[in-house]
Amino acid sequence: MKADSVTAPRILVLASGSGTNLQALIDASRERDFPGQIVAVGCNRPGAFALERAAQANIDTFVVDHTHYGSREEFDGALMAQIRRHNPDLIVLAGFMRILTTDFVRALRGTMLNVHPSLLPKYTGLKTHQRALDAGETTHGVSIHFVTEELDGGPVIAQAEVSISSDDTPESLAEKVQEKEHVLYPIVVRWFCEGRIQLGTDYVVFDGQPLNRPLVLPDENTAATT
Ligand code: GAR
Repeated sequence: MKADSVTAPRILVLASGSGTNLQALIDASRERDFPGQIVAVGCNRPGAFALERAAQANIDTFVVDHTHYGSREEFDGALMAQIRRHNPDLIVLAGFMRILTTDFVRALRGTMLNVHPSLLPKYTGLKTHQRALDAGETTHGVSIHFVTEELDGGPVIAQAEVSISSDDTPESLAEKVQEKEHVLYPIVVRWFCEGRIQLGTDYVVFDGQPLNRPLVLPDENTAATT
């Protein structure tokens, strides 16, 4: 049975761009048994299409425009004030392209997830698809991880792989990886809302046990295995 709006974990999504991952989460949250509720979407860019997607789904939105702040600390302070206003249980970074300060990340420890377009620990940072191609990789993919002080370095919860073919370009690879993101992120958010994943000291706890390695989404996209 679907959790109601009083008891269901409150999810706040932060995005910077097109918001296809946000859309995947909105779609998942409409499923009858989805255990959480998206209470707000925040963006650092006023024109982000993610805001439009949220408005169409009747979800509260806010903008904290990074160009209006003189330092990362001031921006993060304003962002934190907006986040607190919505009292979320989970913060989902969905293509949120801002580096967050240590204080901000520490304050939200264990309650913030990120999607990163590579098989971490490979290719932290930007241009991951180009770098995977340049390195001659045959496999690439997406990781969902807890956000910690280290950029793209928090414990990885789950990954999905894609094969790289000889005619792949950064754009074609991005498309393949995004397809996986849209499946994997809602699954991990669901686990979090069900209380199945937590952040230990520097590892993920899944169903009460430390994870030795990320969960991997099998090809049929239906379940996860260790
Ligand atoms: C996603 O592909 C995500 O992996 C990437 O931004 C894209 C956002 O797309 N995130 C990062 O690169 C984080 N370092 P979306 O706005 O359509 O969801």
